[in-house]
Amino acid sequence: MVAEPQGRAPQDTALLVRDVPVSILVRARWVAWFAMGAIGVLLLVFLAAQLVPYGRTHGNPPVVQEPAWDSAQTRTLFARACNDCHSNETEWSRLSNVAPLSWLTQWAIDEGRNVFNVSEWPSGGRKAGNIAGSVQRGQMPPEIYVSLYPEARLTPTEQQALIRGLRATFGD
Ligand code: HEC
Repeated sequence: MVAEPQGRAPQDTALLVRDVPVSILVRARWVAWFAMGAIGVLLLVFLAAQLVPYGRTHGNPPVVQEPAWDSAQTRTLFARACNDCHSNETEWSRLSNVAPLSWLTQWAIDEGRNVFNVSEWPSGGRKAGNIAGSVQRGQMPPEIYVSLYPEARLTPTEQQALIRGLRATFGD
């Protein structure tokens, strides 16, 4: 009664292993160990990255003064596609809080506000080149940003409306 199942198992195993050279089995085991070690190290680096304070402050300085928008529509379109990086009304809650993406986000917001900031107008506008042109050239909003946060992506019609509105507002 006991014999049947016990008798079969070693035979099956032997069948599986018989044709595989031992060196390949040993190598496979090393590869498995190495892969597990590498995953472990990456996981530790990822967890340690979360402890870096950069990108976690999420500050929104007060809105001092906005430009004289030519229309409410321009302001709305700008808010959707540009505010996160070029105003003090960044919607931090919808942006990633996870490093290293949070570092890229922090960098883009610092740089973006530095180039021009519609919440500190006109003092926050000195370094900007042609604002409408940046949309026309497809340079702004940055592609990586709209692929991560698709709600900021403008349709071609909205894009044209924003370009017209930016020209009327900023005069170039
Ligand atoms: C994800 C953040 C982000 C968003 C959203 C964003 N920008 Fe920018 N923008 C930047 C950064 C960072 C820079 C500075 C570095 C650079 O020029 O690439 C910049 C630079 C600019 C410049 C200066 C370019 C130059 O070289 O003179 C203009 C103009 C500009 N942005 C307009 C816009 C407009 C208009 C929108 C919305 C349609 C927008 N940006 C959306 C991050 C952003």
